[in-house]
Amino acid sequence: VEEEIMERTLSIVKPDGVAKNLIGEVIKRFEDNGVKVIGMKMISMNKKEAEGFYAVHQGKSFFESLTTFMASGPSVVMVLEGEDAISKTRELMGATDPKQAKEGTLRRQFGTSIERNIVHGSDGPDTAAFEIWYFFNALEIFPTVSPLPFETVSQP
Ligand code: CDP
Ligand code: MG
Repeated sequence: VEEEIMERTLSIVKPDGVAKNLIGEVIKRFEDNGVKVIGMKMISMNKKEAEGFYAVHQGKSFFESLTTFMASGPSVVMVLEGEDAISKTRELMGATDPKQAKEGTLRRQFGTSIERNIVHGSDGPDTAAFEIWYFFNALEIFPTVSPLPFETVSQP
């Protein structure tokens, strides 16, 4: 069996998820599947902060609506750690559009539209590094394993 890689990723219970009392549900799903919470806080992004977080989507048709939505109320940001945590988290979330997401995934179960899909997860090691350091500093993360390689180059 090939060894899986220990990874960290960033997840967000988006404002719709918080409003629908899904914070615990999302965390439970991750924890039950070998993905550990090693940092967490509730924040309320302003528009600029939401735009900075989603800068890769600047210029897309949904950017304005998405960033307004993300700044519409509190959300819970968390750093997750586990073997294959990036793809595992995204599998548990399901496809971006809840209608396309697999049965049993968080977005399929609780999402209401392609925009309001209750949860975010980083899509790769580079975006995970950017997204983790966007919201957290080193003193706010409590790793269970020794520092990962990317941290030595990605921490500002
Ligand atoms: O979140 P994910 O990585 O699955 O999707 P994305 O393509 O990176 O898009 C980021 C977020 O923008 C999505 O989670 C949706 O909330 C929103 N979005 C949207 O409102 N309309 C689209 N056509 C695509 C994405
Ligand atoms: Mg994405």
